[in-house]
Amino acid sequence: MNICIIGTGYVGLPSGACFAELGNNVVCVDIDEKKINELNNGKITLYEEGLEEIFLRNLENKKLKFTTSIKEGLKNADLILIAVGTPPHPLTKEADLKYIYAAVRDIAKNLDHYAVIATKSTVPVGTGDEIEKNLLQENPKAQFDVISLPEFLREGFAVYDFFNPDRIIVGLNSQKPKKVIEELYAPFKNKSQILFVNRRSSETIKYASNAFLAIKIHYINEMADFCEKTGADILEVAKGMGLDNRIGNRFLNPGPGYGGSCFPKDTQAMAFMGKKNDVNLSLIDSAIKGNEERKDKIAQKILSCIDDLKNDQVAILGLAFKDGTDDCRESPAVEIVSKLLKEGVKIHAYDPKAMELAKSILKDQIKYAKDAYEAIKDSSLLVILTEWKEFRELDLNQISSLMKHKKILDFRNLLDKEKSLEAGFVYSGVGR
Ligand code: NAD
Ligand code: UGA
Repeated sequence: MNICIIGTGYVGLPSGACFAELGNNVVCVDIDEKKINELNNGKITLYEEGLEEIFLRNLENKKLKFTTSIKEGLKNADLILIAVGTPPHPLTKEADLKYIYAAVRDIAKNLDHYAVIATKSTVPVGTGDEIEKNLLQENPKAQFDVISLPEFLREGFAVYDFFNPDRIIVGLNSQKPKKVIEELYAPFKNKSQILFVNRRSSETIKYASNAFLAIKIHYINEMADFCEKTGADILEVAKGMGLDNRIGNRFLNPGPGYGGSCFPKDTQAMAFMGKKNDVNLSLIDSAIKGNEERKDKIAQKILSCIDDLKNDQVAILGLAFKDGTDDCRESPAVEIVSKLLKEGVKIHAYDPKAMELAKSILKDQIKYAKDAYEAIKDSSLLVILTEWKEFRELDLNQISSLMKHKKILDFRNLLDKEKSLEAGFVYSGVGR
C-alpha cells in the first residue's frame, strides 16, 4: 500500500518507519526542512528504542522516503495519515487545530485521486466532520473518505507498541474505507482486536483513554500521600490493588506527577470539551489541578531538605518526562528544576537521553553531568525525578563516597529503601 504521513514527529516517524517495515511504500512529509534533510541523510531526529535500525533499513531499501513537498507525498497515496501536533491553545487550553487545518488545506489543494484520509493526531470530537467540510470547501471535486485512526503508542515504546497494539480503533461513517484499513492491519489480524466504531466515538475513545490513565496516576499519587501520613507503604498497597484484575497492576506507580506532550494537554482539552458541551467532568478537573499542585509540593519538599542554600549542591537524576525518551515536553522534572532555580538552588543534573533537549529549555542555569556519578559528586542531596531503569542499578557505596551529605529523595521509588538506610542514607521515597 502507498501511504503518505503528514508530520514526522514522535508519532509520524515511528509509524512511517514501522509501516514501511511491513512492506508498505511510505512517504513522510514535514514542513520542517532541517528535519527532512537530516532524515534523508540517515540521521534520526528523535530517540526511540529500536527505531534507528528500522528507519535506516527502510530508508536504504527506499520503502521509506522523506520530503517537504506535499505534492510528492500524495502521489498515488491510498492512505494519508495526518500526524501533526495538536498543542493546547495558549489561552483556552482546548486542542489547537491550526496544524491540522493547514495540513488539510495542503491535501485539498494537491489531491488528484481517491484516498482515505485518517487522523492519527489526537483531535476533539467532531474534527473529522470539520475536516470533511474544509476539504470540500477548498476542493469540491476531491474524492476521499475521512476516518479517525487514533494512536495509542507510548513514547519510549513506540516500536514495541506499534507491533503489539492492545487494540486498533477505527472510526468511520461509511463502509468504503474499511477495505483499506483491513489491508493495512492484515498483519495484526490474529494478534490485536480491530474495533470499528463511528468517527465521533473513535475521537472520544482517544481522549477518554488518556484522561482515564491520567486520573489513575493522580489517584495513586493521592494514595501515596495518604500512605506517607499513615505508615502504609504505597508499593504494597499498589501491588495489593493491582492483583484485582478489574483494577489492573499497570499505571499504579506514584511519582512527581504525570507529564509529557499528551496527558497534560489531552486532559485539558477534554475538560474544555466538557465545559463546551455543558457536561460535568469533575474527575478530570480534579486530576489536572492535583497534578499541577503536586509539582509545587515536591519542589517544597526538596527545598525543605536543603540545609545551606548558598553552598549545598543538589544532584538531579532524570530530566525527561519519563524513561525511554529524550522528550522533555511538560516534564515534571524540568518544571520542578525550574521552581528550584527560582529559589536559588544549585543544581547538577544528568539524564541518559534528554540532556540536549533539557539544555534547550534550562540553558546554562544548571550544570550538566556526563553520568549519574558526576552529578552526585559533592552534592548534599540526591533527587530522583525520572524512572530510568539505570538509576535502579546505582551503586550505593559509590554514591555514599561521593556525596557531601548522605540524603536521598527518590520520587520514583527506584532505589531499595532498606539497603539505602543500611548504607547510612537519610532516604525518603514516595508514599513509603
Ligand atoms: P510532534 O510535535 O513531535 O510532531 C509533529 C510534526 O508535524 C512536526 O515535525 C511538525 O513540523 C509537523 N507539521 C506541523 N504542521 C505540518 C504540516 N502542515 N505539514 C507537515 N508537517 C507538519 O508531535 P507528536 O508528538 O508526533 O504528536 C502528533 C499528534 O499525535 C498529536 O495530536 C498528539 O497528541 C498525538 N499523539 C502523540 C503521541 C506521542 O507519543 N507523542 C502518542 C499518541 C498520539
Ligand atoms: C501516553 C499513553 O500511555 C499512550 O497510550 C498515548 O498514546 C500517549 O500518551 C499519547 O496520547 O500521546 P506517553 O505520554 O508516552 O503515553 O507516556 P506514559 O507512559 O503514559 O507516561 C505519561 C506520564 O505519566 C509520564 O510522566 C510518566 O512518568 C507518568 N506515569 C506513568 C506515572 O507517574 N506513573 C505510572 O504508573 C505511569
